[in-house]
Amino acid sequence: MEKKIQDDINSRRTFAIISHPDAGKTTITEKLLYFGGAIRDAGTVKGKKTGKYATSDWMEIEKQRGISVTSSVLQFDYAGKRVNILDTPGHEDFSEDTYRTLMAVDAAVMMVDSAKGIEPQTIKLFKVCRMRGIPIFTFINKMDRQGKEPLELMEELEEVLGIQSYAMNWPIGMGKEFLGIYDRYNNRIELARPEGEQRYLPVNEEGELAVEHSMTATSYYKQALEDVMLLNEAGNSFDEERVAKGELTPVFFGSALTNFGVQTFLETFLQFAPPPQARKTREGEDVEPESEVFSGFIFKIQANMNPAHRDRIAFVRIVSGKFERGMSVNVPRLSKNFKLSQTTQFLADDRETVNEAVAGDIIGLYDTGNYQIGDTVIGGKGSFQFEALPQFTPELFVRVAAKNVMKSKQFHKGILQLVQEGAIQYYKTLHTEEVILGAVGQLQFEVFEHRMRAEYNVDVQMETMGSKVARWIENEEDVKESMAGQRALLVKDRFDRKVFLFENDFAMRWFQDKFPDIHLYNLL
Ligand code: G4P
Repeated sequence: MEKKIQDDINSRRTFAIISHPDAGKTTITEKLLYFGGAIRDAGTVKGKKTGKYATSDWMEIEKQRGISVTSSVLQFDYAGKRVNILDTPGHEDFSEDTYRTLMAVDAAVMMVDSAKGIEPQTIKLFKVCRMRGIPIFTFINKMDRQGKEPLELMEELEEVLGIQSYAMNWPIGMGKEFLGIYDRYNNRIELARPEGEQRYLPVNEEGELAVEHSMTATSYYKQALEDVMLLNEAGNSFDEERVAKGELTPVFFGSALTNFGVQTFLETFLQFAPPPQARKTREGEDVEPESEVFSGFIFKIQANMNPAHRDRIAFVRIVSGKFERGMSVNVPRLSKNFKLSQTTQFLADDRETVNEAVAGDIIGLYDTGNYQIGDTVIGGKGSFQFEALPQFTPELFVRVAAKNVMKSKQFHKGILQLVQEGAIQYYKTLHTEEVILGAVGQLQFEVFEHRMRAEYNVDVQMETMGSKVARWIENEEDVKESMAGQRALLVKDRFDRKVFLFENDFAMRWFQDKFPDIHLYNLL
């Protein structure tokens, strides 16, 4: 492979920011873009209103600056690296797509609100990152506000998430008294309110400030020194290998809003975040990013919600080689070749045509209904397929039927295609074969309803079943229908595997106590 392409691949850093809504993901993303030169004055950009991306704002920035800011993939250059940030919505548009996006990244940044600690959505997303064994970096945000004690937050990380942590820096005070951070990694103190040019102060071999500063008289400074001493003696040590495996999370304290600690975070993150990683084929072989052959997999399909445009975009994470517009690719599932002339790097009003991209990048392919989530695309004649994307345990369920029974054929066709596409999960009751749909986010049902009408001309009626705890069964042959009941509905999934839908955790535990020989398990 040409050295230039290899260098391009090595410069890629592809990651997602995971967080519970309101932890500050939008705010930090803005600041990162600002450092990347994508936005000249970060302060003037308001990314979000009333809990939802103000998409128009992003598009406006995009038009003004001619840069790539959309809610799907953000790209910028910093310190010789090409950074790709994949969006994982934490809001009402949370869905299986959100989880699958994490299949396409090489690292994750976990944003935590210092006053709230680890919140439910963060736990869900964290688990998926953990399962993949990718490095996870933690940014504890909003230090300009009064929050939990830093040691308590570190403990919470370890206890709630079960991941060990290493504080890269340590806050000196917080809220109104937030004086700065003790940067353990760079051996310096970064001032929250720098005097003149003096933003960084060096620390000496004893770990104390090496220069005169009024801060040394404060109790916050003394407390921070004491804490750092304690971390040095009793805390985990920094271990790059364990970071790479996702066993140890480097923790940064800061404030996205006041843009404090963000640049140091970005620089340190880029130093340790991995370049594009190899992916396994179904046969268990690694496909290295530097492999000559272009390959990638589809992790998301975005259908245009506008009925005037029936096109869809399939998002491809490039695993190896180089993409060039107009190239011909093979989709082994279909044994079919496609010429990739209509490609886009970003999803926005003004989609930007991409001519070249390399391993680590994300490209969008215009799709007229050929691709499925999980599809492998390979340049030339290659025929391997990447490991299947995992199926996730849905939490929300509805019963669904066609309003007009005469439309039952289209109804089943539509469901089949949307299920294959990964938009929704399919279940059916044992004998009556009523259709039940499962999702991880409410929006999936709305999209389903909309698309059934727009694309298959079927009006559906949906009856909410609410949230359920879905469990698959290791020893299906031992399950008897009499074990099912009101609180433990027995259904089949699309592969005809039996699944219990429990009313809640309590019902599941009750079932397990009563039938200890039935071994339940959940998907991711
Ligand atoms: P999200 O994308 O994770 O949902 O969070 P977002 O960045 O939108 O931030 C949620 C709220 O928290 C916003 O306030 C934002 O200004 C605030 N915030 C983010 N980072 C910090 C920080 O470091 N310190 C403080 N004090 N606040 C922070 P909002 O009032 O809900 O929204 P807005 O009207 O200001 O946009």
